[in-house]
Amino acid sequence: MKIMKRLFTGIQPTGDLHIGNYLGAIKQIVDLQHDYESFVMIADLHALTIPQDPKKYHDQVINVAATLVASGLDSQKTTLFVQSAIPAHAQLSWIFSTLTPLGELERMTQFKEKSDKHGQNAGLLTYPVLQAADILLYHADVVPVGEDQVQHLELMRTIARKFNTRYTHTFNEPKALLTHCARIMALNDPTKKMSKSIAGSAIALDASEDAIRSTIIGAVTDSAPDGAMSAGVANLFGLLKQFAPETVDRFTKEHDAGTIRYSDLKSALCDGVIATLTPIQTKKKECIDDPQTLTSIIKKGNQIALGIASQTIQDVYAKVGL
Ligand code: ADP
Ligand code: TRP
Repeated sequence: MKIMKRLFTGIQPTGDLHIGNYLGAIKQIVDLQHDYESFVMIADLHALTIPQDPKKYHDQVINVAATLVASGLDSQKTTLFVQSAIPAHAQLSWIFSTLTPLGELERMTQFKEKSDKHGQNAGLLTYPVLQAADILLYHADVVPVGEDQVQHLELMRTIARKFNTRYTHTFNEPKALLTHCARIMALNDPTKKMSKSIAGSAIALDASEDAIRSTIIGAVTDSAPDGAMSAGVANLFGLLKQFAPETVDRFTKEHDAGTIRYSDLKSALCDGVIATLTPIQTKKKECIDDPQTLTSIIKKGNQIALGIASQTIQDVYAKVGL
């Protein structure tokens, strides 16, 4: 039997997921689950670095789980689990924090951006240490992520090396697997990343047809000098490739000939996005309406994760002399 490499990734249960998350993270997870032994973690400890409403938090976790399953995550192939159910994440994170240089944490782009926006808390600073613990607990080989996480994964590799040097070889260095849709830009401002925190920039996976159409129709399509492609138009072409690939050739030719009508391109993109999201929305509703099935998927995932993580932390404690 072929031994599969192990894949690990995490996704935060913060608010409504959008098509940037879908293309940059979820679709990748679903596509790769056939080729890797896959672990997908709902990062509910990480998301606490930004204040969450305790009354809604459990539902947010369930909502992400339902979105993943509705998007095609196969619980027979992929272990889907919740970070906070596995104590070893916080335990290993503490050990790693004693090996991590402060300067490395302070120069992380995400720390600077988030602490400017949300005020500084120690969790925002040590966020990548917990992320390193997540990944290394499972001895993952590859970690599919968007571009914004690459810096965190480099630090994870540094932490693995430091642990190995101080306490004998324990961890291999997992590699980032960059998605080809690593950076979908905001529809209303193609100089910024599509993000739930920029109003009007994103299409939520739960969006109605009307909302999808009005966001796409409002997308920026400014022209660029000498027939080149502006950032807004290039972004729409990138989306078209994913959601309506059969139309890309025609619109590319029209663009190059200078005859393109962006209203036609947007209309084709709307149809493609709606055709992709509608079945996901239907399946998601079925998942939410059947909480027992979803709960049992997560329970089974938590058990598998607990088994692996407990072994790793035992090994680590022994090596550290605890
Ligand atoms: P947001 O920026 O909307 O808060 P997150 O930072 O929670 O999204 O990202 C969750 C996952 O989705 C990460 O793996 C991230 O790399 C990916 N992702 C987020 N926004 C985009 C985007 N615009 N393009 C591609 N991938 C994205
Ligand atoms: N930090 C990731 C994000 O913001 C989420 C995450 C937490 C993660 N732990 C992880 C991603 C481990 C990959 C591996 O999207």
